[in-house]
Amino acid sequence: MRKVEIARLRTVFWTAIVAGLLLGSFGVSNSAFAAFKVGAKKCQECHTAEAKVWEGTKHFKSYKAIHKDKRAKKIVKAVGDKRMKKSATCALCHYTAAQKKAGAKAKLVSGPSCESCHGAASDWIAVHNDYGKGVKRDGESADHKAARIEKSIAAGMVRPDRLYDVAANCMSCHGLANPELDAKAAAAMLDNEHPLNPDFELVKYSQGTVRHRFYPPDVTANKKMTPAEMSQMYVVGQAAALTSAMAAVSKSDHPKYKAAQDKRIANAKAALELVKGQVPEATAFLSDPSVANGRALAAAVKGKDLSGAVGGKLPKDFK
Ligand code: HEC
Ligand code: HEC
Ligand code: HEC
Ligand code: HEC
Repeated sequence: MRKVEIARLRTVFWTAIVAGLLLGSFGVSNSAFAAFKVGAKKCQECHTAEAKVWEGTKHFKSYKAIHKDKRAKKIVKAVGDKRMKKSATCALCHYTAAQKKAGAKAKLVSGPSCESCHGAASDWIAVHNDYGKGVKRDGESADHKAARIEKSIAAGMVRPDRLYDVAANCMSCHGLANPELDAKAAAAMLDNEHPLNPDFELVKYSQGTVRHRFYPPDVTANKKMTPAEMSQMYVVGQAAALTSAMAAVSKSDHPKYKAAQDKRIANAKAALELVKGQVPEATAFLSDPSVANGRALAAAVKGKDLSGAVGGKLPKDFK
């Protein structure tokens, strides 16, 4: 068994233990121990508009192309694997491995997809749009809605309104910061021209090709963000980048890796300094950029217009 696989099993094991403790008992919800991805085809059944947007992104298109790339072939060899589509290391970020059902073999079905950003769906797919027996969307009670949202989050859904968590997923891949990526593999990748862009910024990279903003339901309008919304997203993205880079920087002393993580840290700190006056939570987060403080900061910026503070930093064009 390869090192990455062992590392992954170890993570899965500890996640299971923690999940078990949180549930109070190991017998409550067996499925929580083996959340798996179901693949974008499933989501597409209802989310045609979002799926169409996704099909226009590099995440979708790269699936047919990237393994043929000359650099890709060199990088795969450097990490000790033969083919990109057989490499557990590359699969961490480049592919979606989906399962038909619990216990079935996982198969690569696409590039990064819905569940790469919104969480593996096996345990929440049936919950997230269940309004109650015989009840339609607009007849759902407030209590039922709150309980439904609670349940979907507990089952691993990363909802868009928990933007810090969505952003953490982007940063894990784009910052080469996935905790399951071992330091040796990261070093070999960087020595063989694998990119690591320390200036990956959430607004710039999510409001171009990736943008899908149709809700409240209106499949005809993929809404652009207002400057105020962009300013909130900018701050949350920087917070997620800081948590991600702080965790990554201690993992490896490979000069390129370290320099990129240091740059990510410097970028994020400079950006967050700008909002300290308006958002006290930014100060707490800067002194301890933990996940909990990041979520608190994200909650605090919700609904605020910070474009006065960060307006000068907001991108004019989008990827
Ligand atoms: C059977 C139809 C159906 C399927 C299948 C489905 N969704 Fe949804 N989804 C909905 C509906 C309806 C809503 C609006 C929910 C509401 O009113 O709160 C929604 C909402 C969402 C939201 C917005 C957050 C929220 O909870 O309101 C996200 C994100 C999402 N779905 C992701 C996915 C992903 C990813 C998949 C595939 C793994 C998926 N959905 C599969 C029907 C579906
Ligand atoms: C931790 C996540 C992660 C892992 C692991 C990873 N990649 Fe990447 N890779 C990315 C991201 C993100 C990009 C896009 C970076 C950018 O353009 O800034 C990328 C870009 C690339 C590119 C350049 C593509 C282009 O369009 O320019 C190649 C080639 C590549 N990866 C090959 C590989 C190979 C081969 C492996 C396995 C040995 C691998 N990657 C593992 C995240 C990862
Ligand atoms: C599972 C890993 C993963 C996650 C999560 C992820 N990405 Fe990516 N992303 C990639 C990889 C890999 C590529 C490069 C594909 C290629 O070049 O072939 C990429 C490419 C992109 C590109 C194209 C960049 C370019 O220069 O053309 C954009 C834009 C992007 N991602 C935005 C995002 C945003 C925004 C998020 C979060 C909301 C995100 N990604 C989450 C792996 C990921
Ligand atoms: C690269 C990461 C990424 C991928 C891939 C992705 N999403 Fe999202 N999704 C987000 C982000 C970020 C937001 C919220 C931010 C915003 O408003 O732009 C969001 C918002 C949503 C929403 C609520 C907003 C709306 O109107 O649509 C739904 C529903 C949703 N996604 C479903 C999907 C489905 C279904 C897929 C796959 C076909 C998908 N997403 C793929 C990152 C992603």
